Parts: sequence; structure tokens; C-alpha cells
Amino acid sequence: MRDGRQVLSNIIASQDKLHQKFGGVVPEIACRRHVEALQPAVQESLDYAGVSLAHIDAVAVTNRPGLIGALIVGVSAAKAICLAAGKPLVAVHHLESHIWANFLSEPDLSFPFISLIVSGGHTDLFLVTAPGDYQIISRTVDDAAGECFDKCARAMGLGWPGGPAVDKLAREGDAAKLRLPRARVGTTGDFSFSGLKTAVVRSLEHMPPGVTLADLAASLQEAIVDVLVSRTVATAERFGVQWIAVGGGVAANSLLQYQMRATAEAAGFQVAIPSIRLCTDNAAMVAAAGSWRAAAGLFDPLSVDAIATEPLAGQRAAPA
Ligand code: KG4
Ligand code: ZN
Repeated sequence: MRDGRQVLSNIIASQDKLHQKFGGVVPEIACRRHVEALQPAVQESLDYAGVSLAHIDAVAVTNRPGLIGALIVGVSAAKAICLAAGKPLVAVHHLESHIWANFLSEPDLSFPFISLIVSGGHTDLFLVTAPGDYQIISRTVDDAAGECFDKCARAMGLGWPGGPAVDKLAREGDAAKLRLPRARVGTTGDFSFSGLKTAVVRSLEHMPPGVTLADLAASLQEAIVDVLVSRTVATAERFGVQWIAVGGGVAANSLLQYQMRATAEAAGFQVAIPSIRLCTDNAAMVAAAGSWRAAAGLFDPLSVDAIATEPLAGQRAAPA
């Protein structure tokens, strides 16, 4: 990426298998597994990169928002490393790191741009005008897009996490067999996915003749992607930016990637979407956000807290 930033290692200690049988993340299990997995993962990342702590300039960690127990484990470990190795600490907002994943994959990405963050907990559109300047434009008023994928997949018996399962099954289905609703929320351009979830559950109760589970998966995916793409492109037009950047776990969706590129590029925009490994939660994106903060001298004291809920930006941006 620009400014000489380069990913030397990006180790992911996934807990997905552990939570699969419960159909979602179990907070208590997640915290305990963080304690066990963290130190080996840090060591593995240093080994893979071929560096020691002495080579590190600063330690970046996600401290907000998220599952509080898991955040506390990560923040405590980061503080301990800083204290032991005499390094400064950078506390990073989770959504800021999803935005910065785009700079790792797309070196030409430039400000200002519209950022769509779609994950298990968020569906947000930001206007990003400079590092650290994120203005919220739209958010979801109920379920996040990833949550809708996960909940519908659970109702369809596809297991967890649901997004990748729906993505895969949808390839065998025909979205035209069943039309699902696309919600509009007032004049704010906010998102809503809970009605779509209800429509999927209703369809499962009374499957129309000739409609398969794969058709339902294709139709669900198309409904989510339609809304995300049309709203994002309309917002980029409204603010007159050149770039659209997509991030978060749902950005790994194959139809979203295809549709966003096709529609946005046809409308004259440039599109940045991280590689799949950089879309879903990972350490490199936290380091990317942390590196501009460290370069700007924006360090945090070792007294910094883990915070369960905090928006990245509270202000709604006015049109340019
Ligand atoms: O960003 P992320 O890894 O974790 C959060 O911060 O939430 O996003 C996880 C979400 C889950 O809801 C998962 O189902 C969804 O991303 N996801 C996908 C795909 N891969 C992961 N959704 C749709 N299609 C995919 N291929
Ligand atoms: Zn995430």
C-alpha cells in the first residue's frame, strides 16, 4: 500500500468451528478462547514476518465497539506488550479498520470516497474526506446485512456463519423465481433488513410450488445486494466522489462484489474491495488504521478502555 505500508503477516485464529454448533457466537466461549489463542497468534505473526518485538514501532489494537469480554482480552494483551517492550499503543475503532483494509488492497484509493461497511453488526455508509474524518450518511435501523444473512441461513437450516452458505447455495438457484421485498426508510436513505428476514421465514413456511431452497437463497442474496449497491451508488453520486470503497465481512459476497463493480463502474466510479481475507475480521486492517494514527502521533495512554458500543461518527453529513 501507499506510504511504504506492507503486510508482513496476517494470522487469523478463527473461532468459527467452535461456535458453529451453537448457531452463533457464544460470548463466554469467545472470551475464553481469546485468552488461549491470543499469545500463540501474536508469536506466529512475528515468526511469519521474521521480526521480533524490537522491530515494532507501535502496537495497534481494536478497543471498540464489540463483544466486551473479547475486547478486554485483546486490549489487556496489547497493553502488556507495550509495557514489556516499551512501545506506544494505538487504540483503533473496529469500523475504522474495515475502512483502512481498502488501502491495503487498493493503493490508488484516494480521498474523498464513500465507504460501505457491511458486517455482522453494521450496515453503514460513510463519507470519508481524510484519515480520521468519517461522516455517517446512512445506517441500518434494525438488522445489519450480515445479521440478515445469518438469521435467514439459520431458518433455512444452512448453519453458521450464514453469509458464505447462502453465497454458495445461491449459485445453484434462480432469483427470478421469487421476489422478496426491498425496504426504503423515510427520506434518510437508511437501511432496513428485518422485513426481508420475515419475508424469508414466511416463504419457508409456505414455499411456492417450484421454488427450491437454492432459489430462495438466490432471491435473498439479490434483495440484499440490490439495496446495498443502489444506495451506495446513489450516495456516491450525491456527494460527487470518485471512489467507492466496500468493507466488512459481507464484502466477501460474490454477487455484491460483481454487482457493485458492474453498476458503480458503469456509472463512472472507481471501486475498491479488499481481498476476502481482508474483508472479514483480521489483524492487518487494524494495523493499517493504526499506522496512519501512529504516523500522525495519535497514540493512546495505557489507561485506555475497551468499549462495547460507540459509533465511528455521530454526525450526518450534509450533501456537498
Ligand atoms: O466483519 P466480520 O468478519 O465480523 C463482524 O465484524 O461482524 O463480518 C461477519 C459477517 C457475518 O454476518 C457473515 O455471515 C458475513 O460477514 N459474511 C458474508 C460472506 N462471508 C462472510 N456474507 C455474505 N456473503 C459472504 N460470502
Ligand atoms: Zn468486522
